Amino acid sequence: MQMGEIGKLPHGGCCRLALTDDDRRGRDLFVQWCRSAGCTVTVDEIGNIFARREGSEPSLPAVSCGSHLDTQPHGGKFDGIYGVLGGLEVVRALNVHGIKTRRPIDVIVWANEEGSRFPPGLVGSSAFIRSMSTEQVMDLRAKDGGRWGDELKRIGYAGPQRAGDRALDSFFELHIEQGPLLENEEKTIGVVKGIQGIRWFELTVTGQDSHAGTTPLHLRKDALVAAAKMVAEANRIGLAYQPDARVTVGRLDVVPNGPSTIPGSVFFILDTRHPDREVLGHIEREMRDAVAQIARQANVGVQVKPTIDIDPVMFPAECRELVRHSAEHLGYSHKEMLSGAGHDAMNVAQVCPTGMIFVPCRSGLSHNEEEYATPEHLAAGCNVLLHVLVERANTV
Ligand code: HGY
Ligand code: MN
Ligand code: MN
Repeated sequence: MQMGEIGKLPHGGCCRLALTDDDRRGRDLFVQWCRSAGCTVTVDEIGNIFARREGSEPSLPAVSCGSHLDTQPHGGKFDGIYGVLGGLEVVRALNVHGIKTRRPIDVIVWANEEGSRFPPGLVGSSAFIRSMSTEQVMDLRAKDGGRWGDELKRIGYAGPQRAGDRALDSFFELHIEQGPLLENEEKTIGVVKGIQGIRWFELTVTGQDSHAGTTPLHLRKDALVAAAKMVAEANRIGLAYQPDARVTVGRLDVVPNGPSTIPGSVFFILDTRHPDREVLGHIEREMRDAVAQIARQANVGVQVKPTIDIDPVMFPAECRELVRHSAEHLGYSHKEMLSGAGHDAMNVAQVCPTGMIFVPCRSGLSHNEEEYATPEHLAAGCNVLLHVLVERANTV
């Protein structure tokens, strides 16, 4: 709730976009809490934060957990934040009970998971696994003109550690489900089997600015009319691959955005998801054909730039089993499930054994100010995380 005060919105949510002053305030608060809990804090060159609770064998790679502190423009208080503060809560609980683990425990804040200010999303974990280079990240641009490298320095989070120069034994991301399944089935813990694949495309449609009153319709190069048809077509393609396909345009920038100017340029982001990589490929091909055809008919240009391409991920049995076993040991009802949302865990899974723990959220609502999870469910998720981390830190 204290973290939720930073970037607070009028209807209970949060807007804490990456590398803004509010992001800095959120990071500062987290770092201060971690230091008070005895952790050593390291920041890498692109702004990921690692808070370490030392183990009795400090040279061993850490068992890690964490998530993100940045939000969507109308984000909630829990998406991402829960996984970060849940890790801190585990550290505090271990401190209170004087429990020493063999491996160290790292609580990680991945930078810019949402990609709201600096598209694409999952930037911090992409740099960590080196599917994005540090140079690429440093040069990312925000709509407000900010450049990643400059903004990172400005908020004081350009750290010394090279991105990815940190061995992790394993990673466990605790998160609200962001969907309705656990609530509907009255289950407390989601044992996450894997995450569906994601592909993002940035589309730039280029027409010509001209006067709304004087330019006959047949002579226009209207980038917005073309973009609107592309959005509608993307939705039609998504509908053809139900029940599993997800196709969304959530960001669209119209230039110059003047009431009496035919828009000469439109930028939008197309977010596509499916549990099957093949189907993602079909959706991409159909979408590319449709977009090219619409552009020809509308006499405009179009550029399609892929920015995220992550295959569906299945978490290893050892991690799923550990989550399931911990939930069972603690007496919580549980259910195996796939994640519809994307998470940094899908990147980290490429470099170490990874798992996820879900708890229910009210009405399955997320990316919405009304996002809510009960203290009882949040505590249950933290308990599972604690057991998972301690077990893994002491026995593997
Ligand atoms: O978009 C996602 O799935 C995540 O919440 N960033
Ligand atoms: Mn999110
Ligand atoms: Mn999230």
